[in-house]
Amino acid sequence: MSGGNEGKMISGKTVAEHNTRESCWIIVHGKVYDVTEFLDDHPGGSKIILKYAGKDATEEYDPIHPPDAITTNLPPEKHLGAVDQSSVERVEVKITDAEKERLARVDARPPLSEILNLHDFEAIAKLVMTEKAWAYYSSAADDEITNRENHIAYHRIWFRPRIMRDVTRVDFTTKILGHDSSMPIYMTATALGKLGHPDGELNLTRAAAKHGVIQMIPTLASCSFDELVDGAKPGQVQFMQLYVNKDRAITKRIVQHAEERGVKGLFITVDAPQLGRREKDMRQKFDDEGANVQKGDASVDRNQGAARAISSFIDPGLSWKDLDWFKSITKMPIILKGVQCWEDAFIAYDQGCAGIVLSNHGGRQLDFARSGIEVLVEVVEKFKEKRGITFPRPGFEIFVDGGVRRATDVLKAVALGATAVGIGRPFLYAYSSYGPEGIDQALTILRDEFEMNMRLLGAPTIKDVVPDMVDARSISTHVVAVPGDRLYDSNYDSMQSATLKAAAKAKL
Ligand SMILES: Cc1cc2nc3c(=O)[nH]c(=O)nc-3n(C[C@H](O)[C@H](O)[C@H](O)COP(=O)(O)O)c2cc1C
Repeated sequence: MSGGNEGKMISGKTVAEHNTRESCWIIVHGKVYDVTEFLDDHPGGSKIILKYAGKDATEEYDPIHPPDAITTNLPPEKHLGAVDQSSVERVEVKITDAEKERLARVDARPPLSEILNLHDFEAIAKLVMTEKAWAYYSSAADDEITNRENHIAYHRIWFRPRIMRDVTRVDFTTKILGHDSSMPIYMTATALGKLGHPDGELNLTRAAAKHGVIQMIPTLASCSFDELVDGAKPGQVQFMQLYVNKDRAITKRIVQHAEERGVKGLFITVDAPQLGRREKDMRQKFDDEGANVQKGDASVDRNQGAARAISSFIDPGLSWKDLDWFKSITKMPIILKGVQCWEDAFIAYDQGCAGIVLSNHGGRQLDFARSGIEVLVEVVEKFKEKRGITFPRPGFEIFVDGGVRRATDVLKAVALGATAVGIGRPFLYAYSSYGPEGIDQALTILRDEFEMNMRLLGAPTIKDVVPDMVDARSISTHVVAVPGDRLYDSNYDSMQSATLKAAAKAKL
């Protein structure tokens, strides 16, 4: 507590009296805050706060804010003191029938040994996550065409394996921005990690340490940045993803703090001047019914989902001119995340960036943006044609993310010139459905897939995974996937996903 009210004890009854728009106090982690003047500045709208006016808001607050969000955003005099917990009126949490059914599905999860691939985590996550978390993690922009295309694009690339090469031992270790990685993948930034599991992004930090991969810490993590750095093992490499704040002083503070704490790469997100419309998420209406303190408040946008609620600070004015400023405030390598065509890749190269991520934000921004893997083919081709430059190349590294679900996907990207690929949702689904063991299993599955597929490809090391090993001639053929394709439905059995235990399935 940083105000002059340290040590002051306030009764729950007193807090409960401040339950209006005119005087709104809330309790978070046993501390009382006067948020009256902050109501209209809250990025998620005032309505959600008013629902908890005079009450303990910790449970709602935790998954969508870093622990220090409230202390850093409210002036010290608004930190009123500690609450006498014995006198706090509990907000009654009703367990709905839907929630009871969800909990039954959690009990009916198949054992981890039956989870055979990353798709399986998604199938189980859909059954066992809360609706709110599933909506935020799985949603994508508009009709979600780009989201589906991200994975489908990999289906248009085929292998040209080599034979009779000694693959007794295969080694898929590599370097990312000069740092060791046990596989050519990294954990890309995904916000609001606690929606899926109480430990949030720390699940990723710990698994990254165990498996020797690199985690990119998101600006909008549910855990605080320092928690995630403190949670790392000595020497563990972490990157940081940055949403650029309109207030550059805040951005500077975040960047320099990250550098001081040893972060090894700054990934600036450049594809989100405004967050895309993620309708599944918006339908969840974070500011739900039931708040009667401010009936008739027309100023509240009732269509905000988690994404919009947290993102209003992002600067749509970010431009190429800002790059020099970034270089002046940090020595960390700067990588632009969200490059989508060769022209911008060239500018990033010419302006001295250390790399680019060819990404469409997991299909969450511009629908009908092309997949990262398709853009990779274009970018590599143009660099060769116009500049005589080939990849992979130290000094300017190309990364790809979106739709990566198999080691074969990764190997295709590596063959085409990517240094490594980012994986987002599969890791969220893994820990949301099975906690730390889930993410451990996800990385083990990938490792096993790398080992087998490199053998079958005839590539003993990552350096042996070369352009000639893939046929990507069809990559730009955009075929829209027809849901419920008749031929597929009637002639073939669909792929099966992991499912609940038989007895439970019969009951539900
Ligand atoms: C739930 C979720 C939250 C995300 N949050 C961020 C973010 O805060 N910043 C960012 O640059 N990208 C964010 N992304 C995009 C990812 O970094 C990445 O581009 C994308 O997830 C890759 O696609 P994949 O999920 O199919 O692997 C998010 C993606 C998801 C699914």
